Amino acid sequence: MKIVYASRTGNVAAFVKKLGIGNILELKIGKEKVNEKFVLVTFTDGYGELPEEVNDFLENNNDYLAGVAASGDKSYGEAYALAADLISNTYGVPIILKFEFDGTDADVEAFKDALLDL
Ligand SMILES: Cc1cc2nc3c(=O)[nH]c(=O)nc-3n(C[C@H](O)[C@H](O)[C@H](O)COP(=O)(O)O)c2cc1C
Repeated sequence: MKIVYASRTGNVAAFVKKLGIGNILELKIGKEKVNEKFVLVTFTDGYGELPEEVNDFLENNNDYLAGVAASGDKSYGEAYALAADLISNTYGVPIILKFEFDGTDADVEAFKDALLDL
């Protein structure tokens, strides 16, 4: 399964690296194109918002979107990792995981297990 991700300060990039998956694409500008099934991993911005490059990318590349995971910070309370809910609601895909910062070892295992079911 391809992993497409966005990371501003490196947490999501570190999480994706821990997965040990070779088929990855980092979103930089949102104009990237993907023509195979993928899971999107993003950080949460603003107050429970999507990064702009993720929003732009998904508008044009949601046909193969299989699931979503989001990084966040629990100190944001109700807005914790809401990027996952926004994408799940908009595109009708399952939330695979919400995790804080770069994720724990348990988060990495939970994500990998969930991938097997997609
Ligand atoms: C300006 C700003 C806004 C943020 N807003 C939220 C938020 O609404 N909800 C949340 O759970 N985390 C929020 N975060 C935390 C980031 O999503 C979290 O630190 C994430 O791990 C960053 O990933 P990255 O290092 O890959 O960019 C925010 C962080 C910043 C700097």
